[in-house]
Amino acid sequence: MLHGSICVAAVAAVGAIFPSVASAYGPISSTKRGLVFTPNETTRADDTIWPESKGLTWYYNYKPEPEAKFSKYPQSEFEFVPMLWGTPSPPDSTEFLDTVKKLIEDGLNITNVLTFNEPNAPFSWGGANMDPVTAAQIWVNNIEPLSEMGIRVGLPAMTGEQSGIPWLQNFLKECSTLVSEGSSTTKNCTYDFVTLHWYDNFEGLASHMGQYSAAFPNVTMWITEYNYANQDLDRTQEFYKMSAEYFDRMESVERYSLFGAFRSDVSNVGPNGAMLSRNGSLTDIGAWYLGRTATGVLPTDGKSPAFKAMVPQVSAALLVAFGAVFALL
Ligand SMILES: *[C@@H]1O[C@H](CO)[C@@H](O)[C@H](O)[C@H]1NC(C)=O
Ligand SMILES: *[C@@H]1O[C@H](CO)[C@@H](O)[C@H](O)[C@H]1NC(C)=O
Ligand SMILES: *[C@@H]1O[C@H](CO)[C@@H](O)[C@H](O)[C@H]1NC(C)=O
Ligand SMILES: *[C@@H]1O[C@H](CO)[C@@H](O)[C@H](O)[C@H]1NC(C)=O
Ligand SMILES: *[C@@H]1O[C@H](CO)[C@@H](O)[C@H](O)[C@H]1NC(C)=O
Repeated sequence: MLHGSICVAAVAAVGAIFPSVASAYGPISSTKRGLVFTPNETTRADDTIWPESKGLTWYYNYKPEPEAKFSKYPQSEFEFVPMLWGTPSPPDSTEFLDTVKKLIEDGLNITNVLTFNEPNAPFSWGGANMDPVTAAQIWVNNIEPLSEMGIRVGLPAMTGEQSGIPWLQNFLKECSTLVSEGSSTTKNCTYDFVTLHWYDNFEGLASHMGQYSAAFPNVTMWITEYNYANQDLDRTQEFYKMSAEYFDRMESVERYSLFGAFRSDVSNVGPNGAMLSRNGSLTDIGAWYLGRTATGVLPTDGKSPAFKAMVPQVSAALLVAFGAVFALL
């Protein structure tokens, strides 16, 4: 998740791929769009807005198991993508692998899985805090067998910092050593797409994507968390439009999910990036994301459901357990 030290990549050479925003105005639906599901216990009635809109084709919840309340939507309509969030307990557990196999046995058509959430960031920032060597062993235990079963797997989702790609390269080297053990030839761990997070401006996003294309040539991208954090409404909307237009146009982008499926008053990316107003109505960005016309609802419209002072502090351990990403900015 987002934190104070995001390093904006160099913006040189972006000019050539800078899109025109003209085509992004108005409602444009996209089959690439999904839901990052981060429910709040005080507003569970909001949860069904996303699948009921029919505007999103997939979701993830930072967990291996799907949401019971979304079970009436078949995978072909609203695909659940399991995630192995971080180090299991004990670390040599194959619980993730077993869970996904069980889901498939029970009839859920799992075709994609996501892996470690920001392993290059500490728990206090919402990261999975893993070293590449340990992560490689966990991957070999849980992810390689799924890959062999034909399930498409994504590389870990690093923060937008410069440490992300080197971490992945160390991880892949270590993973290769592990899967090559006892074999006369060198093998590599297999993956089908890279997974990106971004919380700064559009130029930085495009540049960051360029760095991934250079490091992983011809590998499809999923942008599984993104927003332009803590900006005024105009800038946030401009960023939303430019990035949606770009993702939809770029063949290399297979899927994306805006980090914003929550109310503005509980947003940790600033109120203007939220898809719901204080009282749970879709904002313009929320409506656009679902392929609809602007609502004119301001993120700050409406009354919040609860008095903040009365809500107890949620412990960091609980946040980690839920795979939530509500780190302090
Ligand atoms: C599972 O999903 C994949 C990808 O959408 C599809 O190609 C396949 O036919 C589905 N399998 C079943 C049994 O529905
Ligand atoms: C394994 O990956 C390395 C580094 O990307 C690459 O140079 C090598 O050709 C790959 N080996 C195989 C067998 O694919
Ligand atoms: C990437 O894909 C293009 C078109 O499919 C191909 O021409 C090119 O050789 C590929 N590059 C690499 C590095 O695999
Ligand atoms: C939120 O408040 C606005 C007016 O302040 C109202 O128009 C809207 O219907 C409310 N939304 C919900 C979901 O109650
Ligand atoms: C959930 O909503 C309440 C009420 O708006 C808020 O005080 C609390 O911080 C939210 N929890 C999270 C984890 O965002």
